[in-house]
Amino acid sequence: MAQDKDPAFVRFKNIEKRFGKVTAVAQMDLEIPEGSLVTLLGPSGCGKTTLLRMLAGLETPTAGDIYIKGRRINDTPVHKRNLGMIFQNYALFPHKTIFDNVAFGLKYRGFSRDEMTTRVEKALETVRLPGVADRMPSQLSGGQQQRIALARAIVIEPDVLLMDEPLSALDENLREDMRREIDNLQQDLGVTTIFVTHDQREALSMSDKVVVMKDGIVQQEGGPEEVYNNSANHFVADFLGHSNFIDARVEAKENGYLTVSLTDGSTVRVNPAGPFTTGDKAEIVIRAQKMTLGYREDLAREPEMNYFTGKIVDRSYMGGEVSYFVELPTGKVLHVINFVKRSPYRRGDEVFIQVDPYHCRLLGD
Ligand SMILES: Nc1ncnc2c1ncn2[C@@H]1O[C@H](COP(=O)(O)OP(=O)(O)O)[C@@H](O)[C@H]1O
Ligand SMILES: [Mg+2]
Repeated sequence: MAQDKDPAFVRFKNIEKRFGKVTAVAQMDLEIPEGSLVTLLGPSGCGKTTLLRMLAGLETPTAGDIYIKGRRINDTPVHKRNLGMIFQNYALFPHKTIFDNVAFGLKYRGFSRDEMTTRVEKALETVRLPGVADRMPSQLSGGQQQRIALARAIVIEPDVLLMDEPLSALDENLREDMRREIDNLQQDLGVTTIFVTHDQREALSMSDKVVVMKDGIVQQEGGPEEVYNNSANHFVADFLGHSNFIDARVEAKENGYLTVSLTDGSTVRVNPAGPFTTGDKAEIVIRAQKMTLGYREDLAREPEMNYFTGKIVDRSYMGGEVSYFVELPTGKVLHVINFVKRSPYRRGDEVFIQVDPYHCRLLGD
């Protein structure tokens, strides 16, 4: 009875999966709230697919339990788990019509022909492709085929929708469209969804919760802004993109900041979050986008800001932004990304870098 009160819609409890000597997933505890879109984010080989496959029943855990709606499902066969799945190779059956492709999951569930037709039509409307039921997959574009795969997954009205890198085969523009469509569709249907990706932008843009994984271990879980702005460790800060790391030693706490010293003896003020005390070795992490470049004469020197001086050693134009690599006198190179509008700086220029202490986060050693 106690299990019925489980607040998690899906729960992994102490789940582990070993393949011989490889531990693909290590003693993982994870809760997926009802109606949410949770992404598993991490580099290739970190165990994302294995975790999904265990939930789907395609892989048996070495240890631990999996619950859906409070019921332990370890011994429930694949077809009784009521999950919708879209995998990387979402391939439709090429010689079946769109109708038969979408109806595939219904055939084994004992629906009448009329019920099947109603459900397939509804699913095709949901993915905004009504009227294609009689066509063949080859008559649809890549993006349309992707939506058919989505229709095939939702037609069974699954308890959970599982998507394993479903967009990785699409080109960049289509990916972005599909990302928004999946996000909207998930919100409309309110279906609990687990989305696997190694693409941080994909994860940050569509998730209620992001679970960052490395080597089969959860590194951090939280809302997109939390994992991005308040990364729990070096790996997470690095994986979520464009972070600079500077070794430091904690000196003192003052006026709501921590003062830390760098290896060259200079000092920097940092955000005081975290359990740090004088003498601790730590690492400052600063996002490339949070620093502003300026020539000596055009930066109004504000007393509460941090400043570094350096020389631009590389610059690349990226459309809306410019990416700079600035070498400090210590030889350390910082990556700075600024909007094009305020980017007249060239390779070889001597510049100042301005950064608010709030954006200088400290990570433990
Ligand atoms: N069937 C398998 N047999 C042996 N090793 C496997 C098998 N499936 C996955 N692995 C290993 O488990 C680890 C996690 O793989 P996977 O879950 O596919 O990672 P991801 O989806 O994050 O790329 C990898 O080291 C992978 O080589
Ligand atoms: Mg995978």
